Amino acid sequence: MAMGDSEQEAIDDLIASLPQEKLLNFLPCCLFQNFWYAISMLPNVVACQRHFKAKDKDIVVASDPKSGTTWLMAIVFSIVNRSRFDASNSPLLTSSPHELVPRFEIDLFRNNSRSDLDDMEEPRLFSTHLPYPSLPECVKRSDCWIIYICQNPLDTVVSSWYFSLEMARSAEWPEWSLEEHFESYCQGKFPLRPFWEHMVGYWKESLERPHKVMFLKYEDLKEDIGGQMKKEEEEGGVIEEIAKMCSLKTLKNLEVNKSGKLPGKIIEKRSFFRKGEVGDWVNHLTPSMANRLNSIMQEKIGPFGLHFKTR
Ligand code: A3P
Repeated sequence: MAMGDSEQEAIDDLIASLPQEKLLNFLPCCLFQNFWYAISMLPNVVACQRHFKAKDKDIVVASDPKSGTTWLMAIVFSIVNRSRFDASNSPLLTSSPHELVPRFEIDLFRNNSRSDLDDMEEPRLFSTHLPYPSLPECVKRSDCWIIYICQNPLDTVVSSWYFSLEMARSAEWPEWSLEEHFESYCQGKFPLRPFWEHMVGYWKESLERPHKVMFLKYEDLKEDIGGQMKKEEEEGGVIEEIAKMCSLKTLKNLEVNKSGKLPGKIIEKRSFFRKGEVGDWVNHLTPSMANRLNSIMQEKIGPFGLHFKTR
């Protein structure tokens, strides 16, 4: 269904009313519900908020961008579908995790079309980078389950810089330095950020409603994927098989993840698989950059009891 003229006008009016800035040196963005968005994404976000209809059995993989989303998508997909697929016939062998788990703000309402979500097999699996306060109200109200992942911002800022270089190359956007990237990230002027608001939103919900929101850290998943997965899946043997199938080594080397772009035709599938090393930031950030980001974390997320292990 295409968006009607009046709906389009309402979105245009909304965008015109919001603070706007060019982020990452070139990307027109606007501040909506306290978070920055690429203006081109905002119609999808609003359409999702207005039109998505949650079901109680839905599972939503939510994440701070560049924090292990792809990995968690693959793991949750494999767990949910474990009775249908194993490592020999997993759809992960032939499709990118991003093609198997539709993203609210990117895939579902792209160009305002509404895919027929009612026909999806249950439990339906979705993913999103939307901050908690901006999730569709029905997602917050329903009994659907949200699994959130984030990572130490010291690593995330580096990971997102590499990703932005890939995007710049692919879309012929201007490249920019790690220093510029870092500055923007620390100011919270970054698509789908400030990071501290993103993390704290889900963190608080996970404390208040642990049965609804599960809060994971990339570092913990790396250290003990079995322990984290056992929280939801007790069958012996299956966990090891899923962990292996979803490992960076396996996914990165699959032909389907080595070439080609995701719908939207900007993002190369291979750009989601890089090094996957906790603490890689020491190879990129100066001590003063690390001190600055650590102070921001101490001030903005520390008081809520949210901390990350350093290497
Ligand atoms: P690095 O850039 O630090 O290597 P996202 O999926 O949210 O975009 O996050 C991307 C980060 O997760 C990248 O980190 C990437 O290498 C890492 N990653 C992707 N797949 C992974 C997997 N199967 N296991 C562990 N890390 C993975």
